[in-house]
Amino acid sequence: MTSEGGSGKPFVVLGVSAGIAAYKAIEVCRRLVDAGVHVAPVLTERATRFVGRATFDALASERVQIGLWDEASPIPHTRLGQSADLVVVAPATVDLLARYAGGFADDLLTTTLVATAAPVLVCPAMHTEMWEHPAVQENLDTLRRRGVTVIPPGDGRLAGGDVGTGRLADPSLIVATVLEMLGRGEAVGAGDLDGVRMVVSAGGTREPIDPVRFITNRSSGKQGHALAAAARRRGAEVVLVTSSALPAAQGVEVDRVETAADMEAAMLHRAEAADVVVMAAAVADFRPKEAGTSKMHKSDGVPDLVLEATPDILAELGRRRRPGQVLVGFAAETEQLSDRARAKLASKGVDLMVANDVSAPAVGFDHDTNEVTIFGADGSMFPVALRTKDAVADAILDRVSALLSPS
Ligand code: CTP
Repeated sequence: MTSEGGSGKPFVVLGVSAGIAAYKAIEVCRRLVDAGVHVAPVLTERATRFVGRATFDALASERVQIGLWDEASPIPHTRLGQSADLVVVAPATVDLLARYAGGFADDLLTTTLVATAAPVLVCPAMHTEMWEHPAVQENLDTLRRRGVTVIPPGDGRLAGGDVGTGRLADPSLIVATVLEMLGRGEAVGAGDLDGVRMVVSAGGTREPIDPVRFITNRSSGKQGHALAAAARRRGAEVVLVTSSALPAAQGVEVDRVETAADMEAAMLHRAEAADVVVMAAAVADFRPKEAGTSKMHKSDGVPDLVLEATPDILAELGRRRRPGQVLVGFAAETEQLSDRARAKLASKGVDLMVANDVSAPAVGFDHDTNEVTIFGADGSMFPVALRTKDAVADAILDRVSALLSPS
């Protein structure tokens, strides 16, 4: 990790683009400085219409920079990009995300983003209609694929009195994520999972009723895909067995599956050569006993759907696992979280059970954030407070890493 002027402090570039939420970046700046971080603020030209540079000048560790030609040095973008341990952009507007995803370097902030090799965190804030626009979502997918961490906006009141998704994430969540990314930067960079063979399952399975209908659940696959990406970043050889259409991170081998039966076949096969197996998928518990081979028609009347249980893949993996293989399960609960998670941990024979209360706000199915408790077969319990699914993935992998190389 680099540090500013040998002070030992981590060096963070705080990018601020032109949105109403720019005032919240002042709070992010203050809290990071309080936490012992060297903060170098970089505002876009238009951000100065929302917040004054004097405020950042007073609170940050160095003066605000805006243009490419502010510093005495002719190449300030290289200094910032090279010095940074992390770049955080809060708020990130539609325009900033588009320019960053497109590889533009037309101001100091985008130039720093393109010039840095440090981890990058972006915190979008915008109106709901803009957030939902495919161009914005595709730009974010592109950035995620390149390893950028995204803290999605929350719900609430927006500029102009509208209500919806688009509010900048809470400054405390942004600060906690920055500190966490800095704190584990070295472990991640050092490749603590170098050469570890890992299989991760993700997504909700689809159990056909007929060729056009199926039974499924609310799982998006985001947590499983985040785990695969994080494991790859940390040096593991990763196979992702997924029923989700989400993209997989670069370097991850993917088996696309649909049904519980497909997933069972892929997982049992892939697990044979794996050091670590993670069942993050939400496998359907029931499936139609017989799927129609042609479309059912209304005119035939309401069908009597007869269901049967699907195989419990995790329990089977538990029975078959080799000595030394680490097995991780997930428990999605709405009540009695710890009792149920511990019971599943024991009955399925796993080392770690990652439990989340899927009825809590911003947790579980389809959210970009999660809050979990990791239960260990040794009786341990690690609560992981609300954070991005990328950061939760790293917290889970920290536990896996500890099991692989006990100190
Ligand atoms: N799981 C599995 N095969 C199934 C059902 C679940 O491998 N047919 C795995 C999930 O991937 C998860 C763990 O078992 O890692 C727990 O899943 P969960 O749905 O929470 O529990 P269930 O075993 O389905 O029990 P219940 O329905 O009582 O909650």
